[in-house]
Parts: sequence; structure tokens; C-alpha cells
Amino acid sequence: MIKKLLVTGASGFLGWNVCRAASRKYSVIGVRNNHDADLPGVTFVKCDLTQYTSLKALFQTTRPDAVIHCAAISSPNTCQQHTSEAYKVNVTLSSSIAGLCSERDIPLVFTSSDMVFDGTEAPYDEGGIVCPVNVYGQQKVAAELEMQVRHEQLAICRLPLMYGDVPACATSFIQPWIKQIRAGEKISLFKDEIRTVVSASDAAAGLIIALERARGIIHLGGKERVSRYDFGLKLIDAMGLSSEVAAPISQKDIKMSAPRPADVSLNSSKAFSIGYSPGLIKEELLKLNCIKG
Ligand SMILES: NC(=O)c1ccc[n+]([C@@H]2O[C@H](COP(=O)([O-])OP(=O)(O)OC[C@H]3O[C@@H](n4cnc5c(N)ncnc54)[C@H](OP(=O)(O)O)[C@@H]3O)[C@@H](O)[C@H]2O)c1
Repeated sequence: MIKKLLVTGASGFLGWNVCRAASRKYSVIGVRNNHDADLPGVTFVKCDLTQYTSLKALFQTTRPDAVIHCAAISSPNTCQQHTSEAYKVNVTLSSSIAGLCSERDIPLVFTSSDMVFDGTEAPYDEGGIVCPVNVYGQQKVAAELEMQVRHEQLAICRLPLMYGDVPACATSFIQPWIKQIRAGEKISLFKDEIRTVVSASDAAAGLIIALERARGIIHLGGKERVSRYDFGLKLIDAMGLSSEVAAPISQKDIKMSAPRPADVSLNSSKAFSIGYSPGLIKEELLKLNCIKG
């Protein structure tokens, strides 16, 4: 039985949401590094996980029964610009955690991404051919492969673009949009970037289900396939504003360090069959504190 759950990346957007959800059921130890975080019922520990001796000592002192690994360099542009630094976190650290979980014989959930795909053959199920178009996606593929070799009790959860409430030191893609909208600015959103977007609280519930019931690769997408522009219209509607606040643009209109796949929608039937049940975007948006005035 899982009692003590170690969550890495606990000061980040998703890890914080995982800690919040898991603390209803488990004794949760959240690992942070540069940023502080706070949640009732969660014990936070500071550790630079890329220092192997510190990582090993963390496992020895906390003696977890299970791990959900959310720590990462999660910005594709940062990975593109600082490839070797990102590799240490996204690949080497993930592999080390798989090794330590194997030594303790405990289950591990890894947070991978829909960006392992090139975006030309969506929707993708778990058997889809991986072919990343940017360094971030390449590092997720490398981590998936290394971790699978080192540990059998592993669920690799491929996540889509996520939105939600955040801790003070983290963000999701909607916080800058909300800030701009509230400042009276118009937001320009991609019409040709399609994702099966999901709320972080639904994704967190999915990660916990995967921890308890899944092994191997599992997709945790949302139920709707939307462009960023269409998602933006739902957000603006949930904020009670007019759709004129958003303007549709195309990926080619903005130059970014990391190329981005056009449509990496996930087919998440496997997860749906074991109890993962994300809500509809409009309903999930209305639950968020960040959109309330
Ligand atoms: N956000 C999305 O839409 C999305 C989509 C698909 C997949 N994912 C995946 O989901 C996971 C979580 O993403 P996120 O958006 O929550 O990321 P995030 O907000 O950028 O948080 C990253 C976390 O990693 C921690 N971290 C980084 N380097 C560390 C180190 N050396 N030692 C210890 N902790 C370290 C950070 O700690 P400090 O800040 O305290 O330093 C922070 O808590 C990642 O694996 C990401 O690739 C995210």
C-alpha cells in the first residue's frame, strides 16, 4: 500500500497541483529547489535533484513508497537554448530517479509530453511513432527510453498543454493571457496549433490513477481538441468578456527558438478505460480562482 508519496517539482505548476490532489489520500513530501511553496498537509523539502548525492540522501531520509516525478525544465524554448543544462534535469535526473525507485522496488510516474510527436498524424494513441521536432520533445523521448530500461514499475504519462491555478512562483499558459486581457490588451492566439488541452487538477487526478493502476505508456489528454485561439475564446467567455479581445494568428507569424508541432492531440482512451475522466474546458475554467475578478 502507498503511504508516503514523494512529488518532485512541487513548487512548479503541475507538481503543486499534484501535491494538492494527493494530500487528500497520501502523506505527501513535495520537493522544491529554487522556489518556495506552501500547501496545507504537504511537507516541503528543498533539494537540487541534479546533485546525485543529495538525490540519494533524499530517498534515504524520506523513504518514499511511491514517486511522481514532475521536476523538469519545462519550457521548450529554454531547452532549445540551454540544451545541456536541460538534459541534466530532463534526462539524467529522470533516469537516476528510475534507478533509485528500482532499488527500492516502488512505483514511479513520469510526466512526459505530447511533444514527443511531430504533429502530422494526430490524434496519437500510445502506439504512435515518436518523432519530436524540438529539443524538449527529444529529451522527453530520451528520458522515456532510459527510464523504461531501468525500472519496470513505471507509468510514463504523456501530458498535453495544461491550464489551471498556480502557486506564487509558477505559471501556466493562461496566466499571461489573463494579465493581458485585464490590462485591456488584445491577445493574439494560434489558430493552427491544436491540442487536447486539460486542466492541471484533472491531469493530477490522472497521474494518481496511473500511479495506482497503470504501467507503461499512457496518454492523459483532455476530451476536446482545440486550437489555442478556440481555447482563448472559451477563456474569454468564462471571464464574461467579448470574443473581440482575441485575434487569430498563425504559428508562422511568430518566431520562436523551439519549433512547435501543429497538432499533437492525444487519444486517451486507455486512460479513460481505467477511470481517468477530465472535465470539459468551459466547466473546468469556471472552477479556477485565477479567472475570478
Ligand atoms: N505545463 C504544461 O503545460 C506541460 C505540458 C506537458 C508536459 N508537462 C510536463 O509536466 C511536468 C511539470 O511541468 P510544469 O509546467 O509544472 O513545470 P514548471 O512549472 O516549470 O516546474 C518545474 C519544477 O521543476 C523543479 N526543478 C527544476 N530543476 C530542478 C532541480 N535541479 N532540482 C529540483 N527541482 C527542480 C522546479 O523547482 P524550483 O522552481 O523550486 O527550482 C519546479 O518545481 C514536466 O515534466 C513537464 O515537462 C508540462
